[in-house]
This record gives sequence, structure tokens and C-alpha cells, in this order.
Amino acid sequence: MTNKYHSVKPIKGIGEKRLFIETYGCQMNVNDSEVVLSILQPAGYTLCDSIKDADLILINTCSIRDNAEQRIWGRLDLFRLEKIKRKNVKVGILGCMAERLKDELLNHPAVDLVAGPDSYRSLPFLLESLESGSKQINTILSQEETYADISPVRMDKNGVSSYISIMRGCNNMCSYCVVPYVRGGERSRNPESIVREARELFANGYKEVTLLGQNVDSYHWANPDNPTEITTFAMLLEMIALVNPALRVRFSTSHPKDMGNAVLYTMAMYPNICNHVHLPVQSGSDTMLLKMNRKYTRAQYLERVAKIREIMPDCSISTDIITGFSGESDDDHRDTLSIMKEVGYYTAFMFQYSERPNTKAARRYPDDVPATIKSQRLSEIIKLQGELSLASNKADLGKEFEVLVEGYSKKSKAELTGRTQQNKTVVFPSGEHKSGDYVRVKIESCTSATLIGKEITK
Ligand code: 5AD
Ligand code: SF4
Repeated sequence: MTNKYHSVKPIKGIGEKRLFIETYGCQMNVNDSEVVLSILQPAGYTLCDSIKDADLILINTCSIRDNAEQRIWGRLDLFRLEKIKRKNVKVGILGCMAERLKDELLNHPAVDLVAGPDSYRSLPFLLESLESGSKQINTILSQEETYADISPVRMDKNGVSSYISIMRGCNNMCSYCVVPYVRGGERSRNPESIVREARELFANGYKEVTLLGQNVDSYHWANPDNPTEITTFAMLLEMIALVNPALRVRFSTSHPKDMGNAVLYTMAMYPNICNHVHLPVQSGSDTMLLKMNRKYTRAQYLERVAKIREIMPDCSISTDIITGFSGESDDDHRDTLSIMKEVGYYTAFMFQYSERPNTKAARRYPDDVPATIKSQRLSEIIKLQGELSLASNKADLGKEFEVLVEGYSKKSKAELTGRTQQNKTVVFPSGEHKSGDYVRVKIESCTSATLIGKEITK
């Protein structure tokens, strides 16, 4: 792999061919779309804002749940109509669904090209080959690809906060999860290239980076020239924190079985590493956790939470929850509700179990919780989380926080919105401030989703 580091700025209207990218799924996919843009700009593509103007439409897809895939099939029917209207427009499918469904997607009349998550470097070649008139596909997974040398072209709107991918793939094999099959084995990116990317973002005015990986705690880099020289995630976090004290550092996702104390102590040591941990629990029941192959028990999870709170009392914790996994009983469900209360998550992403073809769960465990029960349990979980979020926000009333401003509030330009270190959204009167400013705000009221306050003027 080369170590050349190139940076390309999007210049609207200069490239000959217009590209429209639509991104679904996780933050990793958002970052991947930026990598794709960076690869395609030198090949003459310029980003455009509308499907109607595009010569090339790329859809970066997600396979995590069936409804994510159904949405994409729906979009393809729409793109088919666009292709009937405009014969020359090309449509490409990228990402996890491309990897999972391969030829099934290629055979759709709207699709010209299918490229999996590790094949984006071949996109210019695949696009050129399309000129021959035949459809193109590359879904080869790689043991090494981390796109380390590619500086993604940022497509985010606020210019304040950005993602940096630090690793790809996953080795965990949670029994319900499709990710290891569509994103391949875990590999870590060269830390030097990560630090360089963080520096470049800071130099370009960014104030916050989120380090991304399916399981950041298992980040592991051995220097190829000196394999005894190891970089762990805690060490990487410190390297990024040292880029500049005015650069906030976040990361996602932590795995409860791997999140060690070294990471927590590093977080506590550097004020610019945000006091927030996203720690997916998935279920509060030991029976479910075992069947999900999560490799921790409820008690071990709670021990990690206690350690976070001991080392950083003001650290917020969020989570992911799956309800209705194979064999989940009322008791198992109650265990999930009780762990939610015990931890007091400030927010959670909550899902009904969706069986994914060829995963261990699909092969071995029946998807036997009826749809009505799944949806009833999900409603209970969402309702409880609403109460917990409100309680967590109420506990912040009267407190002061440093807020990184991201832009105007949805309601009016007289108000700004930003986030605390704990990742809570705060709205306050704009005053003289703008995006990218750090402002100290005292919280005066709240909803379950937002803290509302005023700037502290001394
Ligand atoms: N069904 C429902 N939710 C799932 N997730 C992963 N796989 C599935 C599935 N098959 C959820 C998990 C994970 C989040 C990214 O998506 O909660 O943490
Ligand atoms: Fe992201 Fe997983 Fe969805 Fe792929 S399947 S886009 S890795 S959430």
C-alpha cells in the first residue's frame, strides 16, 4: 500500500461528469461515501445536489436489518424510471448490500454497477468499463484495505464535526449480525495516517472528530518495520487528543467485552476527549447475551458501567438494544427494561430483531417471537427510554456545560444548537456566536431530547 496522502476539495461545476451519492446506514457508510468522492474527483466527477442533474447515481447501502434493504429496493424502482427518462444516466450500488446480494442487485434493470466496501479504488476503472456497454461488479473483500492514504472529501454540512475511520471490518461474530459477512475481517489503519487526517481537519476549521470502528477497543496496529512497536486504542486516543486541545475527540463503537480501563483513564486525562461512551448492551438477559454471542454477562456489563462512572462521574452512556431475539421470553424482556433503568442511559438506539440470512442465528435459532410481541416490547422500551432521557436531562438543570456550536437551531436564527461533551443537544440564544465556537451555557429547561439554556457571561 502506498503512503501518498492526497487531499481533494470538492469544487462544484468543474468536473465533467456529475455525481449524486445517497448514503444509508451507519457513520462508517457516511465516511465511505466521502472516500468514494475522493477517489472519483480525480476521475472527473463533481458532486451535484439532485438526481435529475446526475450522470452517475451511487447508492451506498446498509444490510443491518431487512427494512434497511427494503428501502433500497424501493429507491431502485424510482431510479429505473429516471433511467427510462434519461438513457445515459448510470446507477451504481455500493456498500453492505452490494456485498451481500451481489448479482441479485446487478440483475435489477436499474443497476449498472455493484461495488462492495473494499473495492472503491476500482471504481474509476469499473466506470470506464461501463462504456463498453456491459454491467460491472467487484465485491472482493480484502484483508488489508483501510483506505489509509485517502483523505476523504468532506460532505458534511456544518464544517465543525467530522468522522475518521480508524479500522474496518469486524471479528466479533455476534450471532444476529451481518456485518462480518459484508465488511470482512477486522483490520486497523496506520495511526500516522489517522493523526495526519485529524491535523488536516483541524487546520481546515473542524473542531470535533469521531473515530470510527465496529469495535474501537480492539484497534491494534503493529509497525510493519518493527512489529514489537504496538499502538493500542488508548494510545491512539491520546495521539489524537494531543493534535490540539481545541479539537474534541469522540469515538464509536465500544464493545463491553473489550473496553479496558486504559481507555477510560486516557479519556479522564484529556479534557478534549469527550465524556461519552456508546456501549451497546443489546439485551439485559444473560440467556439472550449468550445466544447472541456477545461474550459478556449482565454483571460484567454493569461492572464496566460502574468503572466508567467511578473514573468519570459526569460521563454519559448511550446504547443499542435489540428486542425480540430468538427465544426471548417475558422475563428476558423484563431484564432488558431493568438494565436500562439500572444504567440510566441518556439515549438509546432501539430495534426489533431482524433475521439476516446466513448469520449464525439464521442458521441455528428460529425467529420465533411473533411480530406483534416484538413491536409491543419495542414500544415499551422506547417509552421507558423517553422517561430515562427526560430524567437524565432534568438532572442537568442548573448545570453549566461547554457547548460546541454546530449551527442555527431548527426553529430560528436567533438560536444556536450544539452539543455538550456528553453528546447532548443544547439550544441557546445566538448572541455573537457562530458555528465552531465553544460557548459556556447554563441549562434552564429541557425536553427529553434537548437541553435549553443561556450563555454564561461573566
Ligand atoms: N436485527 C436488529 N438489530 C440489529 N443490529 C445489528 N444486527 C441486527 C439485527 N439482525 C443492531 C445492533 C447494533 C446496531 C448497529 O444494530 O443493536 O448494535
Ligand atoms: Fe453500517 Fe452495518 Fe449497515 Fe454496513 S450493515 S452500513 S456496517 S450498520
